[in-house]
Amino acid sequence: MSRAGKVRVAVNGFGTIGKRVADAVAKQPDMVLTGISKTRPSFEARRAADKGYPLFVAGAGRAAEFEAVGLAVAGTVREMLANADIVVDAAPDKVGSENRGLYASQGLPAIFQGGEAAGVAEASFSALGNYDACRGKKSLRVVSCNTTGIARAVSVLEPRWGVDDWEVTLVRRAADPAESKRGPVNGIMPTLHLPSHHGPDVRTIYPDLPIATTALVVPTTLMHVHVNHVRLRKAPQDAAEVLRAFRGTPRFRLFAPWEHVDGTPQAMEYARDRGIGFNDMMENVIWEEGVQLEGKDLRFFQAIHQESIVVPENIDAIRAMLDLARDGPSSIAMTDSALGLRSKN
Ligand SMILES: NC(=O)c1ccc[n+]([C@@H]2O[C@H](COP(=O)([O-])OP(=O)(O)OC[C@H]3O[C@@H](n4cnc5c(N)ncnc54)[C@H](OP(=O)(O)O)[C@@H]3O)[C@@H](O)[C@H]2O)c1
Repeated sequence: MSRAGKVRVAVNGFGTIGKRVADAVAKQPDMVLTGISKTRPSFEARRAADKGYPLFVAGAGRAAEFEAVGLAVAGTVREMLANADIVVDAAPDKVGSENRGLYASQGLPAIFQGGEAAGVAEASFSALGNYDACRGKKSLRVVSCNTTGIARAVSVLEPRWGVDDWEVTLVRRAADPAESKRGPVNGIMPTLHLPSHHGPDVRTIYPDLPIATTALVVPTTLMHVHVNHVRLRKAPQDAAEVLRAFRGTPRFRLFAPWEHVDGTPQAMEYARDRGIGFNDMMENVIWEEGVQLEGKDLRFFQAIHQESIVVPENIDAIRAMLDLARDGPSSIAMTDSALGLRSKN
């Protein structure tokens, strides 16, 4: 703990996810960001320095390279970890697993991201899905953006009506906006391995959920879109009842037809207008008009902003592991209020 009684959080890896998690940590009333890491100088390293985040050298990086461009270095990652109560690993896919031994050797609780295999941590985490089961764990994996989005939707539907069958087609973004070397630029690429890995991944949170997922990649960078067909065990009264359930759950943003959010471009324009964080959209986006119910058959679309949806989840994972909140809803409320996500649907 810091002298002010705050939990000291280190973020190892300062790319798309790491820089967002670092900012989110810095905004929490019960946490302090003790450092971030970079392997090399870059515009992101400069931003960290401008924000006053202590910058540590990761991987094969060399302090002299940073110092040569005027960026002060606070030490090595090992030194960063020595002054932290917990680390959030946000290094590239599979590098988190390589970092695991380092965290374990220092006896430090660690959070990994969805690019790692589930076995990297004691459990997979979704704040609305399994907060209580993750309390006090020494390591957690925050599931991927798509899995987080699906798990949130499960947390709304399953307890209320039960699920007999859930089919999701995931229309996946090809790359994040800053990734200029990934494609396809022109094409629709089906993931021919069936089911896609997302269904099994959701079952790391909901082991008995009858879910099958199919995925394809399309040339867009804004968001993923999920096309859901859920056969519920019990029929809701009407679609309005389902909409009320989504609307009443944190981390869902519903758009009414009059808002003219026709697709992901407008959803992200809304996020830019709102101006939270990196103009992020951390909630699941649901189009009210697209929620259709026929008896027990529910169909709906949801859009997932891949770069940010896991950010509040990382914050709640810290609270769950270190038992900092009364329960999941309290942690979610604290996180969302600090991030500015508490606006009414
Ligand atoms: N982007 C998404 O859409 C998304 C969504 C959900 C989950 N995730 C998961 O989140 C994790 C991070 O993904 P990301 O998209 O943030 O990747 P990213 O943008 O590539 O950022 C990772 C950063 O880690 C740094 N790094 C490289 N080697 C390192 C090491 N040994 N130790 C510490 N840092 C190192 C790299 O920066 P420097 O080398 O410049 O320091 C890199 O920018 C992955 O598991 C990914 O699957 C990503």
